[in-house]
Amino acid sequence: MTTILTITAKLLTALTFLCHTPALGRGNTNDNTDNVQEGVGVGAGVGGVIQEEEGGPQITWGRPNTNNAYFHHHTPTNVTAVVGQRAVLTCKVLNLDNKDVSWIRQRDLHILTIGMFTYTSDDRFTVRHPEESEEWYLEISPVTFRDAGVYECQVSASPKIFLPVLLTVQVQQAQIQGPREVFIQSGSTIKLTCLVNTHSDNVGAVVWFRDSSELDYDSPRGGVSIEIEKTPTRTTSKLFLTRAAKADSGNYTCAPKFADAASVTVHVVNGEESAAVHTASSAGTLILLLHLLLLFLLFLYIYFKLTVTSLPLRVWSGGGGRLPEQ
Ligand SMILES: *[C@@H]1O[C@H](CO)[C@@H](O)[C@H](O)[C@H]1NC(C)=O
Ligand SMILES: *[C@@H]1O[C@H](CO)[C@@H](O)[C@H](O)[C@H]1NC(C)=O
Repeated sequence: MTTILTITAKLLTALTFLCHTPALGRGNTNDNTDNVQEGVGVGAGVGGVIQEEEGGPQITWGRPNTNNAYFHHHTPTNVTAVVGQRAVLTCKVLNLDNKDVSWIRQRDLHILTIGMFTYTSDDRFTVRHPEESEEWYLEISPVTFRDAGVYECQVSASPKIFLPVLLTVQVQQAQIQGPREVFIQSGSTIKLTCLVNTHSDNVGAVVWFRDSSELDYDSPRGGVSIEIEKTPTRTTSKLFLTRAAKADSGNYTCAPKFADAASVTVHVVNGEESAAVHTASSAGTLILLLHLLLLFLLFLYIYFKLTVTSLPLRVWSGGGGRLPEQ
């Protein structure tokens, strides 16, 4: 009886243990979503009427297209730029003669440039036309998300000819590989990999921060190294911090110049601490196994008891059998 009581007590302890064991696993939120946002300017129908504001620029239309000006068929009409960088729209006109080339923003029919003149107070817009060339470049620098859309290159001939050019502006998002919370043993090396998928150009310098202090080769901490690798479609920056100490815990941010930053939280745990976590978890497993074994033994015990006690009863109820010799 005492054994049964002990076993029941053990079982209760096991249950309590199971209910109160805190989650020993690490709270990893493995968020691998590809946070690349793309903004594509949607162009309205082409060929809108230019409403010139009073005192605004005047385009002298109606010069006959004597020389049959036309756009070179290699003129790119789908241009992609990255927020913060330079966007260049090209218009290549052949047989221009004495006519003007203008750039018009289709969203609001704003005349941005006529010939070499810029008609906007937004000084991010400039026109470039290398001498003796057939190219008229509209440059927007730095380009913003709002600049996405259709721009028209027009030639002041009669009838007017124009070429719509679509500008797509991309927002790039940096990503740090792995979970958002990183646990590292003190003494080991912290390695973080930051990726930016690029489409049109590079992402500029990539700077790393712990909380608000920049990390680089000559930071006072020492033991910091950064590797950068650039391909036409991807920039990778790897941060290494040797001999991690408690003080290295914090919020690590990868901040490329022309992409949205990414952050992870790094926890540097002591060797003993992480060993304690480890033993606690294996001890927990062992205790659980022991209790399962006890439960099994208890079951066997009860089964055995019942079988043994019911044997003589069956003989008695048989009726016709002999009485057991006592
Ligand atoms: C323009 O380029 C973008 C990205 O390169 C692409 O998604 C889009 O379909 C293109 N649009 C046209 C009209 O070609
Ligand atoms: C980490 O730092 C970045 C940049 O300062 C900030 O946006 C982010 O919210 C911080 N994350 C945490 C968990 O504190």
